Amino acid sequence: MTRVRIEGLTKVFGKTLAVDNLSLEVRDKEFVSLLGPSGCGKTTTLNCISGLETPTKGDIYFDDQRINDMPPKDRGIGLVFQSYAIFGYMTVFENLAFGLRIRRVPEDEIKHEVEQMAEFLGIREVLQEKAGKQSLTNLQKTAIGRTLLIKPKVLLLDEPLSNLDADARDVMRAELKRLQRDVEQTTIFVTHDQLEAIALSDKVAIMNLGRLQQYDTPDVVYNHPKNQFVANFVGSPSMNIIDCSLKLDNEQAVLVHPSFTLDVTNMRHHLEKITTGSEVVVGIRPEYLTVTKQPSKLSVAATVYVTEPLGHENIVYLQLDGILLRAVTPAAVNFNINEKVGVEFHKDKIHIFDRKDGEAIV
Ligand SMILES: Nc1ncnc2c1ncn2[C@@H]1O[C@H](COP(=O)(O)OP(=O)(O)O)[C@@H](O)[C@H]1O
Ligand SMILES: [Mg+2]
Repeated sequence: MTRVRIEGLTKVFGKTLAVDNLSLEVRDKEFVSLLGPSGCGKTTTLNCISGLETPTKGDIYFDDQRINDMPPKDRGIGLVFQSYAIFGYMTVFENLAFGLRIRRVPEDEIKHEVEQMAEFLGIREVLQEKAGKQSLTNLQKTAIGRTLLIKPKVLLLDEPLSNLDADARDVMRAELKRLQRDVEQTTIFVTHDQLEAIALSDKVAIMNLGRLQQYDTPDVVYNHPKNQFVANFVGSPSMNIIDCSLKLDNEQAVLVHPSFTLDVTNMRHHLEKITTGSEVVVGIRPEYLTVTKQPSKLSVAATVYVTEPLGHENIVYLQLDGILLRAVTPAAVNFNINEKVGVEFHKDKIHIFDRKDGEAIV
């Protein structure tokens, strides 16, 4: 049983505020991702948990024990980095056995545990081969296996898939997901890749400039981003963003852009506290725009700028008076450059953010 609780964690390096008053709780057996752009403080947070760095302020607890002053070796941490520090001249077996040997586990027990882990990871056939000859996927499995064999209280993974090429990364992502289900291990996973975080995690903590932006399930951060940063960072291709002003009267709510208007009366009840004329930012994901050959009463007129066929679907770039929108469309329908089309916004998928602070209104 290990729950990790971070309270008001702050880490300053000289003039850099690397982590700014971060609080979050990772429940026992939960898989949580720290997600954000390079330099947002993910690794520093992880290093404070493992003891490689000392917090400037704040407390870290494993269950109810404060571990700030506990030496790193006593924390029961398993760490896997991007560069996984596998010994190439040793066999896969010896690499897996490494942590157990240090802990003076009896030889027959080591053999049993290593073989079981190798079976579990699908690398049993290569146990007696030199690690240096293995694929990157096998090396990463070996690194994770070696760490799991010491039965850490908390597993910390820092961008473990970044060194892999696209194919291997997809495979390892799936493997990690299986592993997570089977080992039920409290895990904190650092990544700058939103797809990895969304695909793997029970919860995602999105960070920017050292600050926590939102901490919730993948479903909530995707469908109900708390602010414009999260909306933009999660999802690919990313959300369309359009500056509008909001016209409200007793019955109606209308988003007004210089070249079109969008009736959002369906959202009127969320806009009680907003004054008419407010400057807002409208967000809509590319999959919630429908492009039609024939403009209709419900659609906004646009011109096709360019299309990108992806095989199973297309991304159509649309021009609307100086703004460029992206729409995901079925592969079966072809659009030509400069074609005049209609664009329909899925009304219940529109996000509205305050333009001053980027916070979500709806
Ligand atoms: N040892 C250090 N000394 C000085 N600045 C550091 C050190 N480690 C990290 N930083 C700075 O702290 C910020 C956060 O870094 P880091 O936690 O590595 O980000 P991430 O892992 O999200 O890419 C960055 O601005 C980085 O340059
Ligand atoms: Mg990092």
